[in-house]
Amino acid sequence: MGPTITRRRLLAGIAGTVGVAGTAGAAAWAGGAFDARLVAPNGGLVARTEAARRRAGSRTVSATLNPRPVTLDLGGPTVSTWGYADSGSGPLIRARAGDLLRVEVTNSLPVSTSVHWHGIALRNDMDGVPGLTQDPIPAGGRHTYEFTAPDPGTYFYHPHSGVQLDRALYGVLVIDDPDESGRYDEEWVVVLDDWVDGTGRTPDDVLASLQSMGGHGDMNGRSGMNHGDMGGMPMGDMSGMTMDGMETMVSPLLGGAGDVAYPHYLINGRIPAAPATMTGRPGQRVRIRLVNAASDTGFRVALGGHRLTVTHTDGFPVAPTVTDALVLGMGERADVTVDLGDGVFPLVAAAEGKAGQALALVRTGPGGTPPSAVRPAELDRRVLVTGALDGADAVTLDRRKPDRVHRLVLGGAMMPYRWTINGATFDKSEPLLVRQGERVRLEFANQTTMFHPMHLHGHTFAVIGGGARKDTVIVTPNQTVTVDFDADNPGQWMTHCHNIYHAETGMMINLAYEA
Ligand code: C2O
Ligand code: CU
Repeated sequence: MGPTITRRRLLAGIAGTVGVAGTAGAAAWAGGAFDARLVAPNGGLVARTEAARRRAGSRTVSATLNPRPVTLDLGGPTVSTWGYADSGSGPLIRARAGDLLRVEVTNSLPVSTSVHWHGIALRNDMDGVPGLTQDPIPAGGRHTYEFTAPDPGTYFYHPHSGVQLDRALYGVLVIDDPDESGRYDEEWVVVLDDWVDGTGRTPDDVLASLQSMGGHGDMNGRSGMNHGDMGGMPMGDMSGMTMDGMETMVSPLLGGAGDVAYPHYLINGRIPAAPATMTGRPGQRVRIRLVNAASDTGFRVALGGHRLTVTHTDGFPVAPTVTDALVLGMGERADVTVDLGDGVFPLVAAAEGKAGQALALVRTGPGGTPPSAVRPAELDRRVLVTGALDGADAVTLDRRKPDRVHRLVLGGAMMPYRWTINGATFDKSEPLLVRQGERVRLEFANQTTMFHPMHLHGHTFAVIGGGARKDTVIVTPNQTVTVDFDADNPGQWMTHCHNIYHAETGMMINLAYEA
């Protein structure tokens, strides 16, 4: 048996410093008493790894973020929520690979928060996980994140605090490639989201409702639903279905598709009745950076009248692949290029397995506006999931036998509502241990009837099969997805489902480097 390191002991190390951080001021977390058997998030090894990332001639890119209560106009409905900006997503932060990012966060929320830089292989103490890599940023507090972004690509940022992601607390981070050949004329950033906050319930209400299921309120229809082998009720012919209120949520492609029926689905912060419009000229080639910032919704994306050429997923290049539509799980990104036709075209993100869709318009010439419920035929032609793509040769991991294999059995149940990895919720889990320099294999074995987009912090893995390099990958019911990565970024790294309700109720584990 390896060393027994409980999360409680991991956290004991920082318990003494939590009080110290209660006032405004930069990173107060000292982490001095961190379990000596693990690499400390702010220790010398992390600092040396960071120093090796610096590139000669790199710049410092500064940005500020002010999470705060905001009122957003979704294109008709206005909602009170928390955001980084007064319109939709937070500021687009853009730097070149090798640049140093310096982001000052001033927390004007009534609660503590944090900022996680999703997909970036960054220094561990800047990863933004309260209780593991830093103290929470208290209400009224400040915190400065400073890190080198080593790899070009499409990333995003969001809190790692409760279910705050399900508000407007997210923004896109683009790391440009200094050597980019740039074979496109225009670039659009397209952010997909599922929206509930300010429509009569907050994400915290949604979580409370999921957790109190079993007999009351709008969750009546869910009694007896079971996503795994851990609830009390047997799975009958209802398995694979999930319900919020009266809506049944199941996808032929993904299985159980979500736990929450959202009143709105958004592209760039707009409902379909008042869509965002992107303009171009016929014949132009556009690179679209697609980000699924939703909390409980996979989206099936297509542009009416066009084919999409997928060039990247989760920042990294793939063998360019032509498709009619693609599905993005929560936390996944894809870059696609399209050659624009002449007219007005619907860019649709259909909520996979749910009722509803998000819409934007692409306009290159005169033409009427399609109805908000338009369903381009492309949505039902060739559909791909990004985990099945072939990695580009340039980013292929060399063949090597794994030094370490961790199997992560994904489990859970609706009654009570809890989600697990290897039978344990996060608070009861033991860290998965790895060592610097190892080739590590993770096997995500889904024993539930829902899909889970599994995300690893601080690394990009290769999906065994096509070899696409990714940081988030969809695992469908009864499927095992195997991924390999090199343990080259020492620290403590969250590994979790990017369904925020699953993560928050337990489907999360620490992947820890041994000292
Ligand atoms: Cu975007 Cu821990 O996640
Ligand atoms: Cu999940």
